Amino acid sequence: MAQSVFSGKRIVIGVCGSIAAFKVAGWASELAKDEALVSVVMTGSAREFVTPLTFAALSGNEVHTAMFGAGREEVMAHISIGRDADAILIAPATANAMARLAAGMADDLLTTAVLASRARVLICPAMNPRMYDHPATRRNLQMLRELGYWVIDPESGMMACKEEGEGRLAEWDTVREHLARSLTPQDLLGQRVLVTAGPTREPLDPARFLSNRSSGKMGYALARAAFRRGAEVILVSGPTALPCPAGVTRENVRTACEMRERVLAHADGCSVIVKAAAVADYRPEILHEHKVKKEQIAKELVLEKNPDILHELGRRKRPGQVLVGFAAESRDLADEGLKKLNRKNLDLIAVNDIGGARTGFEAETNQILLISRTGSEKLPFTSKAHTADLLWDRIVRLLP
Ligand code: C5P
Repeated sequence: MAQSVFSGKRIVIGVCGSIAAFKVAGWASELAKDEALVSVVMTGSAREFVTPLTFAALSGNEVHTAMFGAGREEVMAHISIGRDADAILIAPATANAMARLAAGMADDLLTTAVLASRARVLICPAMNPRMYDHPATRRNLQMLRELGYWVIDPESGMMACKEEGEGRLAEWDTVREHLARSLTPQDLLGQRVLVTAGPTREPLDPARFLSNRSSGKMGYALARAAFRRGAEVILVSGPTALPCPAGVTRENVRTACEMRERVLAHADGCSVIVKAAAVADYRPEILHEHKVKKEQIAKELVLEKNPDILHELGRRKRPGQVLVGFAAESRDLADEGLKKLNRKNLDLIAVNDIGGARTGFEAETNQILLISRTGSEKLPFTSKAHTADLLWDRIVRLLP
């Protein structure tokens, strides 16, 4: 399996004085498990909420708290912490910390380390909704964005202060994706990509539908990887149990016809289209308004052909646009893949062997045969996340 994007990366976590500080202790632990070299800097008020010992134990490193100390290392820490960082994550970021950062102040270890750094700084605000909504905070947020800091918007919901509104610390899943993006070469920056994923459901009546075994995992992994590499990602998804990857715009659809409508609406504006969805080839000819009684269900289900979305995209492909298809096959992978590549006017096709237990539908792992206009290549057996990155490596080379 491929290494985590965090492995060996020096990540500084700046913890400020908010009740949400305890959540960030869990993040430090997650990053340390992913082999990141985590350094934690705590402000004085952060230490009122969580002890440095907690962060030291979970990050596996000593925690920095003081600007001034007697030893040489402590004297230079305010410079070295920021200078050596690959990314700085300020979480939870209080209104006070954001005001000081927006003003470019350097009156404690955290703000000084930020000024001494050229690494990406990610700021995760967490505060009372009225504090977050105050014009002064809004102005500071705007200033931080202008300075090039990435602000990860807080969520809405019930706060510790029993008020409801915007200001709850973003979830780790979201923060992790932005942090991963900050550490990943941005070879898809400026590209708008469209990914489809999951199965489609073709209803017969309000209770029954025809569908297939697609879990959506491969398409979601492709969307997540594209966001990390800098793309603007639109994910048109059939019904799946998967959460939308952070930073990705998801549009949910159910049927092939709905998928076609959404895909065609976006296609012209995208430089890359990856059709990982397992679109049902047929739908019941008649959609019954009411549930069909079992005694009345006909022995033969009459089916109607669904539109082939990828074929349509291939016909209207504009110069420079990269079109990637998937094929689920259980035999003659190379022949079937090549036929589809040509018939649908694709640049690349990823052929899935659905015969194997650990490849194709539902599995966490995959092994695909990639066929392009110039040849074919069998990718290694690996996670779907790693497969997604290997696929993007090839797609990037095809971009004009
Ligand atoms: O021809 P086949 O269904 O095997 O081709 C699979 C590829 O075509 C996948 O990329 C799938 O998303 C796409 N497809 C489509 N519309 C259909 C059927 C398949 O876009 N109706």
